[in-house]
Amino acid sequence: MTDTGSNLDRVLVLEMVRVTEAAAIAAAKLIGRGDEKAADAAAVEAMRTAFNTLYMDGTIVIGEGERDEAPMLYIGEKVGNAPGKGPKIDIAVDPLEGTTITAKAGPNALAVLAIAEEGCLLNAPDVYMDKLAVGPGYSPGVVNFDNSVRENVEAVAREKGCPPEQIIVCVLDRPRHEAIIAELRAIGCGVALIPDGDVAGVIATTNPETNIDIYMGSGGAPEGVLAAAALRCVGGQFKGRLLFRNDDERKRAKKWGIDDLDRVYDLEDLASGDVIFAATGVTDGSLLRGVKRRRDGVMTTETVVMRASSGTVRWVKGEHRSH
Ligand code: FBP
Repeated sequence: MTDTGSNLDRVLVLEMVRVTEAAAIAAAKLIGRGDEKAADAAAVEAMRTAFNTLYMDGTIVIGEGERDEAPMLYIGEKVGNAPGKGPKIDIAVDPLEGTTITAKAGPNALAVLAIAEEGCLLNAPDVYMDKLAVGPGYSPGVVNFDNSVRENVEAVAREKGCPPEQIIVCVLDRPRHEAIIAELRAIGCGVALIPDGDVAGVIATTNPETNIDIYMGSGGAPEGVLAAAALRCVGGQFKGRLLFRNDDERKRAKKWGIDDLDRVYDLEDLASGDVIFAATGVTDGSLLRGVKRRRDGVMTTETVVMRASSGTVRWVKGEHRSH
């Protein structure tokens, strides 16, 4: 695909690699230390410092929470060293996606971000989102909230040309997903249960090496926007629907400009225009290898960075000598 000359400067692609690398390296120092908060705080601080070296007028639209609950990278925080002058950029971050995974040295923890032109990322409140995703190559709407679990699996199997029992569905291992898992077991298909980290779970549907065909179930809405940003770049389908547990959550959604609480969001509704998505592995996972410290003290990182307007996906290996 040719570059469509979007408003996001292509130089930012490499800059975003630096930002997620910095967060991943900081968090990696706390892998397996049993302290989720410390690992998250280290990633947040490193990511913020890295953003603030960049020439941009950035605004965090998905971050660590609202201003009164998060000291850094809170929603609405300005980042970048050119406020009022540099390009206006909206930023979604999850400096440490998988805080518990990191604390327990489990798989698939990532430092993740997505950037877009102003107004192009859904300002998702921190509530749950029902998610359905498949990788590229399926007809539009092949999976759908109007269909039952069985109908979705059968539709994907039909298009893939295999029996439904050969389909593999990724689901967060949570009691709230008991009914979905029971339906999948009744079909006889494979269920990849993940302990945490549904950004990687959704992206796994786009990578044939993972064998995962469908992602199903609820997780964080902010993580839904980040995963959608990645799928905008590499293809695939994503449907999201916000889930509200109480009036306080409904109020929060209204505050962020969401009026239709039952809306089903497609990829473009969550992340539109040009989008850059970057993720660096913190621990080893289906998408990326985690941060490693070599015997000579050099730290190595693996990052994927993608851009929607060109469809380019770059896999970047880093060796870091000063950290
Ligand atoms: P954290 O890194 O904030 O702990 O999020 C991990 C995660 O597993 C996300 O990937 C997922 O969207 C969300 O938590 C699911 O929430 P819950 O743990 O409440 O089911």
